[in-house]
Parts: sequence; structure tokens; C-alpha cells
Amino acid sequence: MPQLFPSNPSDLMVIRAVTPAIITMSLPFARFGVWRFGGRGTLVKLSTGALAVFSPVSLTPEVRERVESLGGNVKYIAALDLEHHLHISTWKKAYPQAEILAPEGLWEKRNKTAEFKGEEPFSHVFRKDSPNAISEEFDAEFESEYVHGHASRELVFLHRPSRTVIEADMLFNLPATEQYSKTPDANPVNCLTNLVLPMLRTSVPSTGQRRFAWHILSQQNRSEFTASAKRIAGWDFDRIIPCHGDVIETNGKAVWQDVMAWFLKDDSKHV
Ligand SMILES: *[C@@H]1O[C@H](CO)[C@@H](O)[C@H](O)[C@H]1NC(C)=O
Ligand SMILES: *[C@@H]1O[C@H](CO)[C@@H](O)[C@H](O)[C@H]1NC(C)=O
Repeated sequence: MPQLFPSNPSDLMVIRAVTPAIITMSLPFARFGVWRFGGRGTLVKLSTGALAVFSPVSLTPEVRERVESLGGNVKYIAALDLEHHLHISTWKKAYPQAEILAPEGLWEKRNKTAEFKGEEPFSHVFRKDSPNAISEEFDAEFESEYVHGHASRELVFLHRPSRTVIEADMLFNLPATEQYSKTPDANPVNCLTNLVLPMLRTSVPSTGQRRFAWHILSQQNRSEFTASAKRIAGWDFDRIIPCHGDVIETNGKAVWQDVMAWFLKDDSKHV
């Protein structure tokens, strides 16, 4: 198996306060060992003091320290899709009071692997046509969308107080500059990554990523994907924290509208 995450995450991870309540943990991650997509986990402190982590990454001593400095009460661990789940068990073991949020099918997928089989069921499983209520404190601050039309079954969250969308494989913002900033070559674009870059960047017009979303990401069910893209476009947000590529600090809504334009306008004549 090619190496996806680095073996020395402590050395390469950038831990950053995006807002006083939001910490990102960014590190190198190479899809299939070749494409420099970058990886990112996001920790949010709710006004109740509870912590929620989205797409958790390696629980390094530095990350643990940061969690402790925020009060240490990790109550929610969200696997953002069928792919972004490798570190949830480590976090659950460290913070046993936490509830796991995941899309349907993830537990069953993990149960087929030697590493994760026989784990206790997840607390909250997002299913098609069922409400996504988590808890009073969580729902008071977060909106969620279960993108059933995406083959990886994405969970997209809006943190309302900071107008921040947190997502995994719906929208990419390569090159992954921050995520590769502590590597020896600090280069997020090797030659194989360069080949796929047009599909995974957001510079306007993002024709390459529009095509990628239209032909690849939504092929499971384009009408459901469209409905999700529209619901998210209806949210009030300015920042997007993707798992892959740099954080979009502002104007995230315009970026979303540009990348998802063909879905939002029911206009596929350009594809
Ligand atoms: C989990 O996997 C085991 C085999 O390792 C199997 O016996 C069991 O039925 C599986 N559980 C579910 C709910 O699929
Ligand atoms: C896509 O989703 C819609 C709405 O849930 C459903 O009616 C339709 O059958 C689905 N199409 C495919 C190809 O699965």
C-alpha cells in the first residue's frame, strides 16, 4: 500500500487558529501515494465548551495539547465521508465520551477490514430521507447536509457562528500550500499533481473543477447531488475549510457558486 500520510506527522503538521473557536490541523496527504491533495482536520469549540472534530487527522502530542488547551471535552467526532475515517478510532479511544457522526455504510465498510472490525456502532448515522439531528448544543451551531448523490457520501457542515463550511470531497482548493509547507521541498505540486491541478483548483472560471464535479463527483446521482449543492448554496457562509487544499478564508460563497454553477443553474450545456 502506498504511503498516504507521513510517518512523522508531528514534524509536518501545521496547527492554526483560524478563528478563536476553530483550529485547523493541516498536513501532507498524497492520494494513492502520488497526488499531493493535502489532509486537514478541523476542531471547533462550541459555545457550551464541547469540542467537535471533523475529519480527524493523526492525534499527535501537539494536537492533544491543543485539545487540552480548549478544555479537552471532545464530544463529537465526524467522519466526513466513506474515505475520511482512518483516525476516528484513535480519537474515540482517547476521548471515549465522544459520539461518532458518519454516513450510512461506513461502519459496515470498516467492519470488513481487519483493523476496524467489530467496533461499537456509531452514535449518529446520516441516512437518506431521515433528519440529521445530533443534539441540542450541536444543532444550535451547525447545519448539515448529507450528500447522498456523491459516491463517497459526503457530510458537509456549516458552523453558523463563524459562517464557515467544513467539507471533504465536494470542493477542492489545490495547490495544498499550507499542508506541504513544512515538508523538505515545501512543494505541493509535483508533476503528477500538476496534471490533475486544473480539476482541483478554484481560480475563476473553474471550468476544470466544474467538469470534475459534473462528470465524476456527481455521477452516483446527479439530481440528488444538485439538490445538495443548491441547499448548501442557500446557507449563509463566507469561509470554506476543505480537507484538500488551502482554506478559503473569505468569499467562499462565490467560490461555491462558481464551482457548482452547472448544478445551481440547471445549465449543463457547457459540459
Ligand atoms: C461484522 O463482521 C463480522 C466478520 O468479521 C461479521 O460476522 C458480522 O456479521 C459483521 N457485522 C455486521 C453488522 O455486518
Ligand atoms: C436519484 O435520486 C432520485 C431522488 O432520490 C431518485 O428518484 C432516482 O431514482 C435516483 N436515480 C438513480 C439513477 O439512482
